[in-house]
Amino acid sequence: MKGIILAGGAGSRLYPLTLVSSKQLQPVYDKPMVYYPFCTLLECGVDEICLISTPLDIPRFRELLGDGSRFGVRIVYEVQEHPKGIAEAFLVGESFIRQESVCLILGDNIFYGSDVFRKAFEEFKSGAVIFGYQVRDPRRYGVVELDSEGSPISLEEKPSQPKSNLAVPGLYFYDNEVIRITRNLKPSARGELEITDVNRRYMEQGDLKVYPLHRGIAWLDAGTSSSLHEASAYVQTIEKRQGVKIGCPEEIALRRGLLESEGLEAMIEKLPDCEYKNYLEFVLNESMPLLPSHPSTELKPGRKDS
Ligand code: TTP
Repeated sequence: MKGIILAGGAGSRLYPLTLVSSKQLQPVYDKPMVYYPFCTLLECGVDEICLISTPLDIPRFRELLGDGSRFGVRIVYEVQEHPKGIAEAFLVGESFIRQESVCLILGDNIFYGSDVFRKAFEEFKSGAVIFGYQVRDPRRYGVVELDSEGSPISLEEKPSQPKSNLAVPGLYFYDNEVIRITRNLKPSARGELEITDVNRRYMEQGDLKVYPLHRGIAWLDAGTSSSLHEASAYVQTIEKRQGVKIGCPEEIALRRGLLESEGLEAMIEKLPDCEYKNYLEFVLNESMPLLPSHPSTELKPGRKDS
């Protein structure tokens, strides 16, 4: 399965931060925001990634992540000329996806505390898989309603009267049908190709699975000044307390065997003296295995998993 990081958009809610730098390059505590969704894809097991962003920002992302060889994966870049909707990612990325299935993650979504995504990735065969996350105010999100068996029965984008409190986070798995489905979509009233419409098509065909995320999982989207600040505070709290980093792609690459220790050692030598370098040295030299990053989760569609 291939992976897409969608990291364009206007970022208007973060003005003036986004006047000269894209939202997904802003710092979330000690790393650029895009490191976190990038790491989620790496942890899932994705090895080929297409990063999509604006014509202005693509060169900066390329500088940051390069061709991916530093992390033992392949990264290519595609331009979305105008922010015409999340689902447009499948058309912009069509020549990258080719005949394969694809996992899409939004560049401002940060997940922590579960291996549910890796399991979903491993078990994925066909159709579409999305997740449901309980939120206090679902009106800002795509909202999914489930029946008593855990099957989706309605999907709405930013409903004024939500039928459930399950928001759909920005991580989605699709088979190759997604390209055909997106080609046949009409833009919504706000002029965008809506990811909720893609998911609804899969639902209508009986091909949409929804895995509820249990309450121990953190899902943060860092699209406003206060959620950006909260995401930074969250990452700082965990990192200071446990002495491990969230969203460190070199560490995940080493643990997945994508990088050899010699390669990481050579890379570390080139880094300026900084806390990130100290951490990579710690990862490289640790004599005791660290605790697994996530508890093991049983994967099953259902109404609630808290
Ligand atoms: P949003 O947060 O909905 O939009 P935005 O990033 O443009 O921000 P704002 O509303 O403040 O103007 O987008 C969610 C994610 O999807 C974000 O990472 C940007 C990305 N995105 C694109 O890359 N292209 C698009 O056409 C859209 C709609 C979003």
